[in-house]
Amino acid sequence: PTNKTFTMIKPDAVKDGHSGSIIKMIEAAGFRIVALKKTQLTSERAGEFYAVHKERPFYNDLCQYMSSGAIIPMILEKENAVADFRTLIGATNPANADEGTIRKLFAISIEKNAIHGSDSDENAEIEGNFFFSHVEQF
Ligand code: CMP
Repeated sequence: PTNKTFTMIKPDAVKDGHSGSIIKMIEAAGFRIVALKKTQLTSERAGEFYAVHKERPFYNDLCQYMSSGAIIPMILEKENAVADFRTLIGATNPANADEGTIRKLFAISIEKNAIHGSDSDENAEIEGNFFFSHVEQF
């Protein structure tokens, strides 16, 4: 059975022109794009998206960074989507990311790490619905 994950290409990767390469890797790895758009968060909306990290020391910088430019959110579908997608993107800190992962190839730092991937089926659902209405998901 297939299930879904949520991702967004972050401002550094969009600005540096890596969106096409990243989407190519995602499709080559067998993910189907259920929803996709280019948009920009306000710092308030970034704060809402990352509310689970509110108490972390990096929260304010993260909200500032994530609202600094365009992002490309997507909902993806595949068997074992959440875990397989996290394997494809690599560790949060690109210094620890495996060779050939999206973060190894395109991330600049632990904050500017090119791409997001949901950490559970439940969060994938919540995060996807944060960006896309039901009629945009097919
Ligand atoms: P992601 O896992 O997509 O969502 C939380 C984000 O917070 C993470 O990517 C990084 O962009 C950022 N982040 C996590 N840990 C740190 C850290 N130690 N310092 C700065 N930013 C971080």
